[in-house]
Amino acid sequence: MRADLIQLSYVAAAVLFILGLKGMSSPRTARRGIVWAGVGMLVAVIATFFEPDMTNYLLMVVAVAIGGSVAYVAARRVAMTDMPQMVAIYNGMGGGAAALIAANEFLRSTTMTPSFAILGVIGALIGSISFSGSMIAFAKLQGIIKKSFLFPGQNVLNILVLAAAIVLGVFVTLQHTGHLGGPVGPTLGLFFALALLYGVLMTLPIGGADMPVVISLYNAFTGLAVGLEGYVLGNAALIIAGIVVGSAGTLLTQLMAKAMNRSIANVLFAGFGAHGGQELAEGPEGSMKEAAPDDAAITMAFGQKVIIVPGYGMAVAQAQHKVWELAKLLQEKGVQVKFAIHPVAGRMPGHMNVLLAEAGVPYDMIYDLDEINGDFPTADAALVIGANDVVNPAARDDPGSPIYGMPILDVDKAQNVIVVKRGRGAGFAGIENKLFYGDNTRMVYGDAQDVVSKLIAGVKKV
Ligand code: TAP
Repeated sequence: MRADLIQLSYVAAAVLFILGLKGMSSPRTARRGIVWAGVGMLVAVIATFFEPDMTNYLLMVVAVAIGGSVAYVAARRVAMTDMPQMVAIYNGMGGGAAALIAANEFLRSTTMTPSFAILGVIGALIGSISFSGSMIAFAKLQGIIKKSFLFPGQNVLNILVLAAAIVLGVFVTLQHTGHLGGPVGPTLGLFFALALLYGVLMTLPIGGADMPVVISLYNAFTGLAVGLEGYVLGNAALIIAGIVVGSAGTLLTQLMAKAMNRSIANVLFAGFGAHGGQELAEGPEGSMKEAAPDDAAITMAFGQKVIIVPGYGMAVAQAQHKVWELAKLLQEKGVQVKFAIHPVAGRMPGHMNVLLAEAGVPYDMIYDLDEINGDFPTADAALVIGANDVVNPAARDDPGSPIYGMPILDVDKAQNVIVVKRGRGAGFAGIENKLFYGDNTRMVYGDAQDVVSKLIAGVKKV
């Protein structure tokens, strides 16, 4: 009876996780989704306390208290721009926890059926890689590690380390299925050390700006590891939660890679994201034409339709509140205002949506790439705020460009393009943008928050 109730609670928790994930698929229901998933986790934790062979209650309570309070304080304090590294840390912890479950199972039971031993080893390997890889991702995004480590033969070394970890994993399996003698501890220790080392080596060469894709990949790894260890423990909630997280992470990784027009292999092995943010020495032919904020304001205020395109620079400048103020002012002047969001604008999935929602922009003013691209030719002005790669026409027109094939927002087709950025800084991909040299483009230089304040003042004068 008690065992049935516990299993029932785990299934209820799993259903809540699924409902939570479903809720998170739309900004309107995302908050509710997070609450559902949180309640699911609470149910699972409480059910665990009633497991028959639990004895260490004090230790469990202390662990829950430490973990819960640290997470609560950290989540309240974290800045929106630091969210990716927070996700990296939590994610890594999940992978580490799955690896620890496996370690514990291998240490306490010397004989296992082959399926338990094999799946346990695979989960331990993936969980360890996810843990150490996520910690490096965190350190890079936090600026603790500033360099990308690239050297000849790196991929060969990585493959050798992974191969050695897999061989040791086979030994661990053989020892636990009674096919190989000898002490378990050293084999297990070396197996985990190599798996952790592989996570570090795999992540070190990847450019900091590529980290969101990598974090999402590790998210998928963690889900897989948790699901596998759930099988070893016979825990339905862990299996279902693991599968849900694993498949959601895999889909997100694919979506992000696709929206950047890059393969996951290219993200992992090319060291590409290391170049973003540099100043470009030479540009294409032509010149960038500067406009005063007042002139840009007049162009917009006398237009009928203005499309605002936010990018990473808006997030850096935290200009979203000012941008919304400007949009409302234009609406009061009778201008139709729309926001266009590229799927990989900013540095994490949904980055711009979150910022605009925080500023209070209604969802029905926000349009996806597919919905809005047909609108640009009829827009009097496109206002690009701190976006660069996601509006680079080279992705459409230049087969030699590293971003060729990435879908972009067609802002260059608007009657007038107003670009707000600080200077000649490149975007994430580190390449030139012909849009800034277009005949219909005017550059308004400065920090986005500062410039948008000036645009507001300009519109007020009209
Ligand atoms: P970016 O191409 O990164 O360009 C941002 C621009 O903002 C820069 O050119 C910079 O120029 C300007 N900027 C920086 N700080 C500013 C400030 N305080 N005020 C005004 N402007 C400022 O941004 P994007 O167009 O949003 O594209 C995102 C890029 O990130 C894509 O290449 C995408 O593939 C990549 N990426 C996205 C994700 C996700 S999931 N969103 C994940 C990984 C990578 P100045 O220095 O001249 O000001």
